[in-house]
Amino acid sequence: MKTKILVTGGAGYIGSHTCIALHEAGYDIVVYDNLSNSNREAINRVSILIGQPIEFIEGDIRDTELLREVFALHKFFGVIHFAGLKAVGESVSKPLLYYNNNVSGTITLLEVMAEYSVKNIVFSSSATVYGDPESLPIDERSKRSCTNPYGQSKLAVEHILEDLAASDDSWNLIALRYFNPVGAHPSGQIGEDPNDIPNNLMPYISQVAVDKLEKLSIFGNDYSTVDGTGVRDFIHVTDLAQGHVAAFDYLEKQSRLNESGTTQQYSVGFLPINLGTGKGTSVLELVCAFSDVSGQAIPYQFTDRRAGDIASCYASVDKAKMLLGWQAELSITDMCQDTWRWQSMYPNGYDVS
Ligand code: NAD
Ligand code: WQD
Repeated sequence: MKTKILVTGGAGYIGSHTCIALHEAGYDIVVYDNLSNSNREAINRVSILIGQPIEFIEGDIRDTELLREVFALHKFFGVIHFAGLKAVGESVSKPLLYYNNNVSGTITLLEVMAEYSVKNIVFSSSATVYGDPESLPIDERSKRSCTNPYGQSKLAVEHILEDLAASDDSWNLIALRYFNPVGAHPSGQIGEDPNDIPNNLMPYISQVAVDKLEKLSIFGNDYSTVDGTGVRDFIHVTDLAQGHVAAFDYLEKQSRLNESGTTQQYSVGFLPINLGTGKGTSVLELVCAFSDVSGQAIPYQFTDRRAGDIASCYASVDKAKMLLGWQAELSITDMCQDTWRWQSMYPNGYDVS
């Protein structure tokens, strides 16, 4: 029988790509999403891409009763927990919404998992938990600190997972700390579809490229980086999706070892792992790469630094390689090509009305 995984937030940007990767890797999936930041059309497109309907439940992770029904109906091996709100600026103006959704929601999910003895979880954490890093590349033992409610909510969940692991070694809890996910599925059928004017760089660039936005503002050109603009570790969303498959393969392998009884009982505990490429790319380098790939001019202007931004951020990727046997494969050109394909095929994202 196939291993069954509950994917919370599976209709979203990273979740939808991960559903495809999980299906291709032979996992059975059930998606649970309240569609607060996603579109049912993403689920339809994923179903078409994988050639069979996705089992989808519209629901909120704060809804204990509905979660109980879902866990009673399905025998899950574990959960990939993408569901959460992610806009840094909005989190500053609506902190209670962010703590309620991201922290209380996760507690509710963990409580129901415990009730049904489902103790394997892969949580979507973020490089944001490292704040302004003391040194580069950033490894998983680096100091954690956050300056905004969104980041605090990710850090709070990490602490909860750590405490849970310490209290009971039957929990296996992996926190994947994503760096800067970009790109889209190579088919061009699914991708990132921001509700409003994008906050993040890549969707902003791609909307300038299709003339939805007039020009990019580059926030600061006086950082001590290669060209004065910010440096980030951009990672293709399909590489990231494979990282989740590798994390679940790891959890399954540990569980099989334990079941075979040939080794000492092994607990994964709380395991934080960076998912990045290990390479930094500057804002200007990304703009140039996108312009080359798309053949479109990307008009830009330099403006003041954005509050809360750091100069440079890129991952140490050794732990993911060593433990999960995973590493990112795709280049900045691939990331731009696939973003451009999605954006030019669907300039209005999933809104095709
Ligand atoms: P997304 O907004 O596209 O996907 C999140 C999904 O969760 C959406 O489909 C949304 O409808 C759903 N959701 C939100 N609150 C929910 C709730 N209470 N109950 C049920 N569903 C709910 O975001 P994404 O970019 O795919 O990010 C996925 C996860 O990864 C998030 O937790 C995010 O914080 C984290 N993350 C994202 C990035 C990034 O840059 N995209 C970086 C690091 C970490
Ligand atoms: C990248 C670079 C900007 C937009 C954010 C979250 C982080 C994580 C990933 C969830 C920076 C510059 C951007 C623009 C610009 N999300 N920029 N003009 O800030 O590294 O990370 O997304 O966990 O928590 O904070 O990503 O894409 O916003 O910015 O010049 O219009 O692009 O200053 O140097 P960031 P980003």
